[in-house]
Parts: sequence; structure tokens; C-alpha cells
Amino acid sequence: ARLVVLVSGTGTNLGALLEASVEPAWGAYVVGVVSDRADAPALRRAEAAGVPVHVVPVADHPDRAAWDAALTRAVAALEPDLVVLAGFMRLVGPAFLGRLGGRVVTTHPALSPSFPGVRAPADAIAYGVKVTGATVLLVDEGVDTGAVVAQTAVPVRDDDDTASLHERIKAAERPLLVDVVGRMARRGWSTSPDNPRKVLLP
Ligand code: GRF
Repeated sequence: ARLVVLVSGTGTNLGALLEASVEPAWGAYVVGVVSDRADAPALRRAEAAGVPVHVVPVADHPDRAAWDAALTRAVAALEPDLVVLAGFMRLVGPAFLGRLGGRVVTTHPALSPSFPGVRAPADAIAYGVKVTGATVLLVDEGVDTGAVVAQTAVPVRDDDDTASLHERIKAAERPLLVDVVGRMARRGWSTSPDNPRKVLLP
């Protein structure tokens, strides 16, 4: 299956997907990496792996709709079977979801629906939860509100700060994402006839 990965940051999740794709049995390969930021370190990982990179800066467009349309064109041109938002820090818009919706997943460093948005590890510490985790979600028009595909739990330690907790979450998030993307790529997925929010991985 053809994967397109969207990134904004360090790209450790992208790195895990690139490593997994070396094994043909995983069933997917990264055909392109797209970012909103030319300076995202994740892009160096893509280049090192010989994967095409495309940057769509928000500042290059008069408004969000124009940016969303440009992002959609860049991703759709790669003809992805599955799009993975791996540390992508922008909300994809109606053009993107209209064209690619239904085959876009994201990884989130919390147990959704807890702590949506860009500060999930900090919010977990502030709230005082004892267990948090990582979630792979289908992407819908909301902020981390799509159907849950898979989750893994991660303990919060009393001496954690945001960085130490986020690193522990990321250590669990990478294998979760690799497992889920591989299964979706190899055998697809469905939702329960009784509950459209219940995602079934074969
Ligand atoms: C990941 O924890 C992801 O869930 C969150 O931001 C982090 C990105 O890390 N959205 P990386 O860029 O994949 O290293």
C-alpha cells in the first residue's frame, strides 16, 4: 500500500514507519512526506531514506482554504492508499477530507477522547492522571475527535515533567502506529454495523 506521511516536527513516528517499510511483509511503503514547515527535522529523515518531500507553508497562501487546497493537491498527487498524520501540527480542512477522507489516520499522545490538541502530555500532567497513553485515530473534521482505531496505555510517574512523559508516550506510540498502519495497509479496516465509531481491524 502507498503511504503518504504528513509531519511538522522531529519525525520519530515517521522514522518508525520508514524503518518498518524496509520489510516487504509489512505491506506498505512511504511514497512521499509532506510538511507545512521547510525546517521540520522530519524532512531530513525522509531525504535520508530517499523519499520525496513536499513542503506546503501556510504563509505561502492567502488563507487557510487556499492552503488546504494546496495541501490536498500535493498529497492527492502521490495517490496514497493511506495518509498518516505523524506529528502534523495543523488541522486538515474540508478540501483535504473531501478528497482523502476515510483513509487518513493520526497519532495522538493521549488516550482519546482525553486531552485533544497540541498539549496532550502537559494537559495529562496538569490534570493529575495516573495513566495516559497514545491513540491512533481516524481523522475527521474535528480536533482529535475521529473514531479510535487503537490505543496503548502509558503510566504517568510522580516525577514526570512534560518532556519525560512525552518521551515515554512516544516510545509506546511508535510500535502502536507501525502495527496499526501495517494492518490497515495489508487488510484494510471496517466499522461496526451497530456503531460507526467502532473501528474493526482484521
Ligand atoms: C507525537 O507524539 C505525536 O503524537 C504528536 O507529536 C509528536 C510528534 O513526534 N502529535 P514526531 O514528530 O513523530 O517525533
